[in-house]
Amino acid sequence: MAKQILLTGGAGYIGSNTALELLNAGYEVVIVDNFCNSDEKLDERLAGIPVYKADVTKYGELAEVFGKYDFHAVIHFAALKAVGVSVREPLEYYANNVGGLLTTLRLMQAHGVNRIVYSSSATVYDPAGPLPYTETSPVGNANSPYGQTKVICEQIIRDYTASNPGFTAHLLRYFNPIKGAVKEKPRGVPNNLYPYIQQVHEGLREKLTVNGNDYPTRDGTCVRDYIDCTKIAQSHIAPLEAETPGLYIKNIGTGNGTTVLELIRQYEQENNCVIPYEIGPRRAGDIPECYCAG
Ligand code: NAD
Ligand code: WQD
Repeated sequence: MAKQILLTGGAGYIGSNTALELLNAGYEVVIVDNFCNSDEKLDERLAGIPVYKADVTKYGELAEVFGKYDFHAVIHFAALKAVGVSVREPLEYYANNVGGLLTTLRLMQAHGVNRIVYSSSATVYDPAGPLPYTETSPVGNANSPYGQTKVICEQIIRDYTASNPGFTAHLLRYFNPIKGAVKEKPRGVPNNLYPYIQQVHEGLREKLTVNGNDYPTRDGTCVRDYIDCTKIAQSHIAPLEAETPGLYIKNIGTGNGTTVLELIRQYEQENNCVIPYEIGPRRAGDIPECYCAG
């Protein structure tokens, strides 16, 4: 019988791409989402997957789903992720992201589900730490409440894993996802660079504003580690099969740093188009460079 995998937040961008990869690999996928940042209508390639509208912070709602299946693992994507909003609404971010993880872990404990794959982020690394980031680089001093929720959630999982010898936890620290078989469909004005470029290409926005070109980088714009979301999706499969219980931490990036201007050029070449842009001021909270050792 196929292994049943619960994807919380599975209707979102990375969750949908992962669902597709898991189906291709022969897993049975179940999705829970409250659709606060996704459409109830999933990508057509995901038709047939059971999808439950439930809030992972609400024990009763999530308990109903746990009661119906015998999950081999949970992949916990569900979270709010807008860095800027988290600065204005920190309580909502802590309640949703930390509360949602706690409820999920409590239900896993109650049902004897002993494996979690957690969507962590490059944002957990101390921005003052040396580059490239490796899994042993210093963590903390996140520059937003959103980032801090990821630091706290990692610690909760670390503590729970230490208390439960049969438990397996994989913390996947994603760098900057782009592309993917299922495209990101952000609501409103995109916060992130890649979907903004896509919307300029599609004619939904007139031009891109590059947030500063006076950083100490090769062309003055910020450097990030952009990774294809299909690769991110595939990175969830090995953790579902790891045999030895314990805590595993992995960076999910390419090891290559790309500037904003380089990403625009790459997009233009790949799509045979021109992306109009202007140079604007720096964006508060941005660090000049962020990439992993690969
Ligand atoms: P997304 O917003 O597309 O997906 C998250 C999904 O979780 C959405 O469908 C949303 O409706 C759902 N959700 C949020 N709160 C919920 C709740 N209380 N109950 C049920 N569902 C809830 O975001 P994404 O880019 O797919 O990110 C997935 C995960 O990866 C998140 O944990 C995010 O923090 C993390 N991450 C994302 C990035 C990135 O740049 N996209 C980078 C690093 C880490
Ligand atoms: C990349 C570069 C912008 C938009 C964020 C989160 C991080 C992680 C990934 C979840 C920066 C510049 C952007 C625009 C621009 N998410 N930019 N014009 O900030 O590296 O990471 O998403 O964990 O936690 O902080 O990604 O795509 O927002 O920005 O010039 O319209 O593009 O200033 O230099 P970031 P991003």
